[in-house]
Amino acid sequence: MSARRKLVVGNWKMHGSHPANAELLSGIMAARPFAADVAVCVPFPYLPATALSLIDSDIRWGAQDCSAHKQGAYTGEVSSTMLAELGCRFAIVGHSERRAMHGESDQLVADKALAALGQGVTPIVCVGETLAQREAGETAGVVKRQLSAVIHTLAHCVSEMVVAYEPVWAIGTGLSATPEQAQEVHQLLRAQLQAATPRAEQMKLLYGGSVKPDNAAALFAKPDIDGALVGGAALKAVDFVAICRAAG
Ligand code: PGA
Repeated sequence: MSARRKLVVGNWKMHGSHPANAELLSGIMAARPFAADVAVCVPFPYLPATALSLIDSDIRWGAQDCSAHKQGAYTGEVSSTMLAELGCRFAIVGHSERRAMHGESDQLVADKALAALGQGVTPIVCVGETLAQREAGETAGVVKRQLSAVIHTLAHCVSEMVVAYEPVWAIGTGLSATPEQAQEVHQLLRAQLQAATPRAEQMKLLYGGSVKPDNAAALFAKPDIDGALVGGAALKAVDFVAICRAAG
């Protein structure tokens, strides 16, 4: 295992309600302390209540997206300044659901990452190939292209981001990448980062896509897998806590 401290981030997607969130968060809080860093990325409207629940703990919170713009006539968007005001430590950017359903380009994702960093919010930049791309042997090319836009845009701040490798075919399908498949891509991404920054060794590369209590430890045992971005299993305190413990 590497010396990098693990990071486990829950991505709640568009799930939750005030009572359900309170129960989930208290279940996570009750299981502390964790040896890994732990965070939850919640829907925008739940950020204030989440912040209040977690403020006295070492569990961080964040958003699932962030505008590339500072302010202005962008109906429905939320700026990184607003996220910073709410104490967000993280903002997921470029999740495959946003790339696919909202047409987000590599450059837009990179601009969002830059906007987040500008306010001290750490972007968790998601990259990953579809099943068709994997079957066509395009995995390396796709993830490198996606990461390269962010590397160029962040320039000297590259090492400040977190990268999440999330193969699209593994998200929400119960079909996780094997630890070997994930490690292979993480190693590629680390090499690409090494060419861009002397701090690549300290950067966290998360794996996401059907991470569950029963497969987390094997994924975390790989040298370039520094934690997880967890969707479905982040909605149940027992499962999320088990994944956080597997990272300890
Ligand atoms: P999943 O989602 O764990 O439900 O596969 C992961 C993600 O989309 O971040």
